[in-house]
Amino acid sequence: MTDSQNRTSSDELIFFVNGKKVRRVVGLTGTKLGCAEGGCGACTVMLSRYQPFHTNKLISQHYAVNACLAPLCSLHLVAVTTVEGIGSVARKLHPVQERIAKSHGSQCGFCTPGIVMSMYALLRNNPTPSMADVEEAFQGNLCRCTGYRPILEGYKTFTMVRTDGKNGCCMANGNGDFQGSKDKPEATSLYNTADFEPYDPTQEVIFPPELMVRNTNPQEIHSKTLNQAKYLVAYKPDHHLHTVEHKLLCQSKI
Ligand code: FES
Ligand code: FES
Repeated sequence: MTDSQNRTSSDELIFFVNGKKVRRVVGLTGTKLGCAEGGCGACTVMLSRYQPFHTNKLISQHYAVNACLAPLCSLHLVAVTTVEGIGSVARKLHPVQERIAKSHGSQCGFCTPGIVMSMYALLRNNPTPSMADVEEAFQGNLCRCTGYRPILEGYKTFTMVRTDGKNGCCMANGNGDFQGSKDKPEATSLYNTADFEPYDPTQEVIFPPELMVRNTNPQEIHSKTLNQAKYLVAYKPDHHLHTVEHKLLCQSKI
């Protein structure tokens, strides 16, 4: 067994937040706690996991997840991205942040980090989504004060594909000839698309290389029980068949 495999099966829980390895409290306050039971989406963050054995290709997959329901151990070898990790006013806003602001999609702002991260995770998996994809991505996000029209209007711009073959918002670039969204532009626009920064999916942060090296046996985490008398082995299923296998394994040991 290699050194990296030994380390992966140790009692060390390893994950990254916004590109930095977590060693202490990170103090990020952008992500909000609303309902604490998976109903409002205010706590949405993006989790990225490397899939070393997936179709013989090394790929990372991105998931919009309710942080309030995510067990800490499920983050082993996972890169967490919060709303602070994609952009800020001090640095530079990500187009997902900029477009919800400029389309007046945020009033009290409590739901906004979650909505931004749901859209961001969708774009990381699919840079040219359809309007149906956008609506599906927001199924778990509630907004109590702005209303969904300005939010969807702003993010509809990500669904348009220029007919000259370049990605980006045709309206934001002054070209009204688009395909992808079947919806016609509203007669009264909530924004000036010329103000939008173009979206460039090649500029996103990369997956932490350390997690690629360590990710040799991602299903198994060993951790000591509180009294240190014996080890608890926690399995992290990748798909529902793993869940069934682990359940049967547990039942056979009872
Ligand atoms: S706080 Fe409402 S879904 Fe997490
Ligand atoms: S902006 Fe207030 S809840 Fe959405």
